[in-house]
This record gives sequence, structure tokens and C-alpha cells, in this order.
Amino acid sequence: MQATIRDERPGDIEPIENVTVQAFLNAPHTDHREQHIVRALREAGALSVSLVAETRGEVVAHVAASPVTLSDGATGWYGIGPVSVMPAHQRTGLGSQLMEAALQRLQHLGAAGAVVLGDPAYYSRFGFKPEPELVLPGVPAPYFQALAWGDSLPRGEVAYHPAFNATG
Ligand SMILES: CC(C)(COP(=O)(O)OP(=O)(O)OC[C@H]1O[C@@H](n2cnc3c(N)ncnc32)[C@H](O)[C@@H]1OP(=O)(O)O)[C@@H](O)C(=O)NCCC(=O)NCCS
Repeated sequence: MQATIRDERPGDIEPIENVTVQAFLNAPHTDHREQHIVRALREAGALSVSLVAETRGEVVAHVAASPVTLSDGATGWYGIGPVSVMPAHQRTGLGSQLMEAALQRLQHLGAAGAVVLGDPAYYSRFGFKPEPELVLPGVPAPYFQALAWGDSLPRGEVAYHPAFNATG
């Protein structure tokens, strides 16, 4: 089905929360805090990218991106995620459309690169790969991947926005 990808609007906050909760309900490797993270990022003004996919006037998928900090002082890096697709709409291409749109948006924002945390097989299709020099503490290498648009790749540790600690 044809979906419209667009920026979130004020009226989307609850639908986005619902999509996020539903998407992760039966997902592996989650502590079900994703909806709190999205909200905390928004409240902190750190939701650099927040795109929804809409079908028949209904928000059915969402992607967020927020700035990350790097221990070597490199700037312009973002973390993409959470990415959430309503279970009934999963595996229909919406997640991919949102990922591509988020990557395009970050490039328009002048980003130097992006990182993702999650299934390596899924994210590698968008050009992400593990970079041994770039580490998210506590996360096994294959599950943390990067995509650089510039020539240089930062080295060291990556930290997501403090909103990723949100619990409610
Ligand atoms: C993961 C998720 C965002 C993918 O979105 P989606 O719309 O279902 O995926 P797409 O239809 O764009 O899938 C594209 C491809 O990735 C594959 N794929 C989908 N989910 C996958 C997963 N969890 N692991 C590996 N591959 C996956 C699909 O089979 C498809 O492959 P194909 O093109 O060869 O058929 C979505 O399934 C979801 O919301 N899952 C629950 C929440 C989650 O785990 N989010 C990601 C972590 S932040």
C-alpha cells in the first residue's frame, strides 16, 4: 500500500507513542522503553528527525534520529532509532522507506554520519557496517554499526542522548 512519509506534527504525538509500543510489544532485545525515549528526546529538543509513515490518514510507522556525542570530539553524528512499524504493517517496506528518508534528511541537515543499534542484517542493507574503531560501550560489535558521509571516521566511544535513559 502507498504510504506518505512526512514530518511529525503536534497531533501525531499519541499515534507515534502507540505505534512505538505496538511495534516493540513482541520484539526481541527490548525493555519496552522506546516510547519513553521518543517522548524524552522530543521534550529535550533532541528529536532531530521524526518522520511518520501514514496510510489512509493513519500513522502506522515512525523513525526518530537524535544527536550522539563522540569521545574524540567529532561532531555532526546522529543515532537513528527507534524505528517502529505497526505489527500488521511490518515486512511491507515501510521500515525501509523510513530509514531511507531519515538518512536523506540527516544528509540535508549536514550530518557527518549516523549510527544504529540493532539487527546487523537489517541495517547493513542501508549501508551501515560495524566499525572496530567506533564503540558503543556494553554492546557487542556486530550490533552497533555506522555509516559515514565524510571521508573520515571518528574513533572512540559513542554516547546516545541522555533521553535514552528515560523510564517513563
Ligand atoms: C524492524 C522494523 C523496523 C523493520 O521494518 P519493516 O517495515 O518491517 O521492514 P521492511 O519491510 O522495510 O523490510 C525490509 C527487509 O528487511 C527484512 N527485515 C525486516 N525486519 C527484520 C528484522 N527484524 N531483522 C532482519 N531483517 C528484517 C525484511 O525481511 C525485508 O527483507 P526483504 O526486502 O529481503 O524481503 C519493523 O519490523 C519493526 O518495527 N520491528 C519491531 C521494532 C524493532 O525491532 N525496531 C528496530 C530496532 S530500533
